[in-house]
Amino acid sequence: MTFDATFPSRRMRRMRRDNFSRILMQEHALLPGDLIYPVFVMDGKTKASAISSMPGINRLNIDGLLNMAETAVNLSIPALALFPFIDPTLKTEDASEAWNPDGLIPKIVRKLKSSFPDLGIITDVALDPYTTHGQDGLIDAFGHIDNESTVEALIRQALVQAQNGSDMVAPSDMMDGRIGAIRLALDTEKHYQTRILAYSAKYASAFYGPFREAIGSATSLRGNKKTYQMDPANGNEALWEAGLDVHEGADMLMIKPGMPYLDILWRIKQNFLMPTAIYQVSGEYAMIKAAAERGMISEKECVMEVLTGFKRAGADAILTYYALDAARWLKS
Ligand code: PBG
Repeated sequence: MTFDATFPSRRMRRMRRDNFSRILMQEHALLPGDLIYPVFVMDGKTKASAISSMPGINRLNIDGLLNMAETAVNLSIPALALFPFIDPTLKTEDASEAWNPDGLIPKIVRKLKSSFPDLGIITDVALDPYTTHGQDGLIDAFGHIDNESTVEALIRQALVQAQNGSDMVAPSDMMDGRIGAIRLALDTEKHYQTRILAYSAKYASAFYGPFREAIGSATSLRGNKKTYQMDPANGNEALWEAGLDVHEGADMLMIKPGMPYLDILWRIKQNFLMPTAIYQVSGEYAMIKAAAERGMISEKECVMEVLTGFKRAGADAILTYYALDAARWLKS
């Protein structure tokens, strides 16, 4: 590229002077159709229960969720991503509640799909809501997260989700080979249309703290997740991870968290040209919320700036706890 014209014949401010020319030169625009709303679901009669580290976000029971789903549909949000708060008495070392066909997630998916057939339902494939130790995988005799037995468990979990109507299964566990194994299992059972959203580059991040409170795995989590989630210091490794997921049959790739990993989003999108999502995680939400509550920043403007930044960096879809707010702000 050459920039031979220079000041004063080249004036960058000319196009910025008026609203009409600012709009004409705008390269990216956020749409409600870009947003996926992650929601925390729970059993029981209480409609909503607050999450202290995520002001404004509640765990919802089925009634609360059906009301919220209607709001999401009216705001043109294409999909919800469900995360369960599992009754502590149902948690075990082997996470078997994760593939109980009458468990919380299968029940909720059936209900949502019958009430809102066109609303996309994405279900999380990972064991952390179901294990007593809060890890995403199963622990072997030596205390390590065992890849092969975990993948077997994830297959069972993904199959139950697909059998009960999940549109898209989203493995967030970071085990090796799980995308291919789940694709094969889905195809063997003729769930050809069940999509896979692969958490390809999921980093071992401190920004997941509020989420762990939300699903009730924070107090039980033993150790950290560094033997399966990625080191924030690494970028090239994320391309290997994404390439493997593409080969194994992922329909869409995801990068997580969001704001500290825009370079990873850009590189993955440029390299694979796949449908690509980014997850603005719980700690990123909490950070903006807390600063806004203290009057330090303008919440709406900061949120819209971050979400637009995700699009500029290559995101086709954005998981954000601000989805409802952002869709409302876009409408007004
Ligand atoms: C775990 C999972 C996590 C999130 C989504 N799925 C947390 C973790 O890996 O401990 C985090 C999402 C968020 O922070 O909003 N399977």
